[in-house]
Amino acid sequence: MEASAPKRKEARKSLRIKVISMGNAEVGKSCIIKRYCEKRFVPKYLATIGIDYGVTKVQVRDREIKVNIFDMAGHPFFYEVRNEFYKDTQGVILVYDVGLKESFDALDAWLAEMKQELGPHGNMDNIVFVVCANKIDCTKHRSVDESEGRLWAESRGFLYFETSAQTGEGINEMFQTFYSAIIDLCDNGGKRPPSTMGVGFTKEQADAIRRIRNSKDSWDMLGVKPGATRDEVNKAYRKLAVLLHPDKCVAPGSEDAFKAVVNARTALLKNIK
Ligand code: GTP
Ligand code: MG
Repeated sequence: MEASAPKRKEARKSLRIKVISMGNAEVGKSCIIKRYCEKRFVPKYLATIGIDYGVTKVQVRDREIKVNIFDMAGHPFFYEVRNEFYKDTQGVILVYDVGLKESFDALDAWLAEMKQELGPHGNMDNIVFVVCANKIDCTKHRSVDESEGRLWAESRGFLYFETSAQTGEGINEMFQTFYSAIIDLCDNGGKRPPSTMGVGFTKEQADAIRRIRNSKDSWDMLGVKPGATRDEVNKAYRKLAVLLHPDKCVAPGSEDAFKAVVNARTALLKNIK
């Protein structure tokens, strides 16, 4: 008979990973990292010169991971310095300031810079991205709301967190979830596990919500030319209503977009004979 020896705990290899931070200058990248690693906040702005490098050991679930953090300077001036650090990265912390719309609009350009530096054979699909909507303590000046940020992130399969490096809100939770997703990626042979790919809504729904938010008038919102007929307005409305109906669409911001479309149609039909 086999002796009922206590099950030996399977020795889990400790992991080594590389993460980088990206985003415009002054959005709070260095402060987010400092808040997590050193549990403190520095109110004075000390711009990162080129790259700041640090190593830290963290415990996530039952694993110890050694994290190499490359904290990048956001200023365009440092492009030549940071461009060589994009390679061999498992995780990206992408930061914007919720009070500065241009820092949110710049996220696409940051992704484009990374893609360009990784070259034609680089694959961004197997990197974990976490978007930090930072400085949420500055409620007075908020110009990018949660649903807009979340939609941008989740429609790309990225994680999304609201953070404040000043108060610490969201920071630990963000890092734990981020590292956890990187462990899952490494355990899956460096490929993003399928469970983290689906977001429950389509790119078409996300694009429609974004377009509706940015539309300049009711015609634009429904995607018809000014002076369109009742039929054209109704047809465009029906298409959007089916796409964004709250019973069918779980994308962040879909409810507001649906209401806006209903209102736009009502306003246009009032003035069309
Ligand atoms: P670069 O290194 O130039 O790319 O900037 P960065 O993104 O690293 O910004 P940094 O972390 O240095 O922070 C910029 C300024 O924003 C500093 O004055 C910080 O004190 C301030 N700051 C950062 N995070 C927060 C936050 O969550 N809330 C508030 N109120 N201020 C913050
Ligand atoms: Mg910095």
